Amino acid sequence: METANILSGKPTPEEVSGLEGSLRPKTLEEFVGQRKLKENLNVFIQAAKKRGEPLDHILFYSPPGLGKTTLAYILAREMGVNLKTTSGPILERVGDLAGMLTDLSEGDIFFIDEIHRLSPTVEEALYPVMEDFTFYINTGRGPAATSLKLAIQKFTLVGATTRGGLLTGPLRDRFGIVGNLNFYDIEELEKIALRSSHILKIPVEPEGIAEIAKRSRGTPRIANRLLRRVRDFAQVKANGIITQKVAEDSLNALEVDPEGLDAGDRRLLAALMEKFKGGPVGIDTLAIAVSEEIDNLTDVYEPFLIQAGFMARTPRGRVATHKAYTHLKIQPPKKTAELF
Ligand SMILES: Nc1ncnc2c1ncn2[C@@H]1O[C@H](COP(=O)(O)OP(=O)(O)OP(=O)(O)O)[C@@H](O)[C@H]1O
Ligand SMILES: [Mg+2]
Repeated sequence: METANILSGKPTPEEVSGLEGSLRPKTLEEFVGQRKLKENLNVFIQAAKKRGEPLDHILFYSPPGLGKTTLAYILAREMGVNLKTTSGPILERVGDLAGMLTDLSEGDIFFIDEIHRLSPTVEEALYPVMEDFTFYINTGRGPAATSLKLAIQKFTLVGATTRGGLLTGPLRDRFGIVGNLNFYDIEELEKIALRSSHILKIPVEPEGIAEIAKRSRGTPRIANRLLRRVRDFAQVKANGIITQKVAEDSLNALEVDPEGLDAGDRRLLAALMEKFKGGPVGIDTLAIAVSEEIDNLTDVYEPFLIQAGFMARTPRGRVATHKAYTHLKIQPPKKTAELF
């Protein structure tokens, strides 16, 4: 059931199949928050347009659901070019890459999602393409091997990754612009949820929207998801209007607590405190203790728990903070209480 990981930043099938598209801001102006990044992108767009050149290659990184794909679409629209999308795991062979690259027109945006998951051979084939739009095709083997040079139209590569740290140095260095998206504050999430409620024609009261924003883990995708789930409750259990009470009751029923933690977060923190005395404990050990994949812990749970101050990363492993003990009403060991 979706509610099991309602606070996972990753998209649900329902969201992928179109719902997100309809809620996606279409212009930089409509894109809420990330002020600095937006200002910079605006300068790069104006400059590229003035010179009549494509944008420099751009890398976006952030936890899931903060707007990387949305920005790629916005860039294409603002530049007035086409966007072709693929993703690291899909681009398996160099041949797949060749097919897509030769299909690009001048100025187009080629969007590679999950770019940290490119195979090494595809990644290496991409280097000369990013540098001077030349693609090398190797034919034959051994002494008969030759390399053909193929000129590719000048395009913009936009890469997105949830794992900035996993990108190889050579790939990262070939991006002219690197944009890091941060978690959104509550005011920004209110704006996003309110905008979505207008698009989806959901009647809301400001306090209801505020309650949803507060529990959205700083993540627009989650704000939109909670909005739709709360609407269900509002229609079935109330008169269809999302008031603060309706939002509170339904989010409680979904086990999303007032700090925006869900059952999975609380289980993780509880394990850290009860099985490992609050840490420090290695991420792999912690993953085993809660039967979660390490990737899920590092990409989905941890970024928010750290940013919200429930967990900290130390050289010796993860630790629960005082705030985590207070929130889960667990008695902290003395030393941890002093430390954090
Ligand atoms: N700044 C924003 N303003 C308004 N809505 C936003 C914003 N950022 C994201 N959203 C909403 O959140 C949804 C998820 O955003 P998006 O798909 O761009 O995230 P992502 O960073 O690409 O996530 P993933 O890492 O899972 O690919 C979008 O469909 C959009 O509705
Ligand atoms: Mg995306």
